[in-house]
Amino acid sequence: MKNLQKQLQLTADGSHTLFIPEMDEHYHSVNGAVQESRHVFIEAGLHRLSKEKLRVLEIGFGTGLNAFLTLLDTNIPVEYYTIERYPLSQGIIQSLNYGELICPDKKELFTLLHTTPWNEPVIITESFTLYKIAGDSNRCELPKQIDLVYFDAFAPDKQPEMWNQEIFRRLYHAMTEGGILTTYCAKGSVRRMMQEAGYSMERIPGPPGKREMLRATK
Ligand SMILES: C[S@@+](CC[C@H](N)C(=O)[O-])C[C@H]1O[C@@H](n2cnc3c(N)ncnc32)[C@H](O)[C@@H]1O
Repeated sequence: MKNLQKQLQLTADGSHTLFIPEMDEHYHSVNGAVQESRHVFIEAGLHRLSKEKLRVLEIGFGTGLNAFLTLLDTNIPVEYYTIERYPLSQGIIQSLNYGELICPDKKELFTLLHTTPWNEPVIITESFTLYKIAGDSNRCELPKQIDLVYFDAFAPDKQPEMWNQEIFRRLYHAMTEGGILTTYCAKGSVRRMMQEAGYSMERIPGPPGKREMLRATK
């Protein structure tokens, strides 16, 4: 995946996504990347928790869109961990329109999310600390006491090894009671693996263009 070609594309809400021709897979929904990210991770996840501080874990940092939206959306202290095996090149990152489109006043924060070092905690704002882990989510140690998981891997039919019983078991044990995991995926086999791991499962309406998505609660 590291060396696979990535094409910049516009989605229906005017925000960019990346397309990998060799996998025939997009990083986000072509119906709207920002719209999807807000729906699946911010509204169905972040907004469902009322805590004084939060630890978030994202599987697949990619373009940094979910991290940026989370940073802009919250004023409680957030420790944001994210695992990425194939970091994007600076050239691709600089071509993404998220900073300018979502919050021109704070677009430098979007850049900062990408330019800060990996594998150490970095204070991005007073209330947002970023910890980017360079590695494979199936192998690396997971952070503990996680309140919210954004499971944003490529689709199960494109990268099946990401969606396995063991990762959902490990995530479950890394989470706090009442913690939430959200994903855009609605597949029955994924729902069953999460249930087997111990989560209470809900199928909820998906973002435009997708009937359903999954939310798992510990
Ligand atoms: C659907 S994309 C979403 C990325 C990101 N959340 C975004 O909004 O741009 C999936 C991401 O998972 C990453 N990925 C693939 N295999 C991985 C692995 N084994 N461990 C961690 N991340 C992985 C990909 O490189 C890609 O960035």
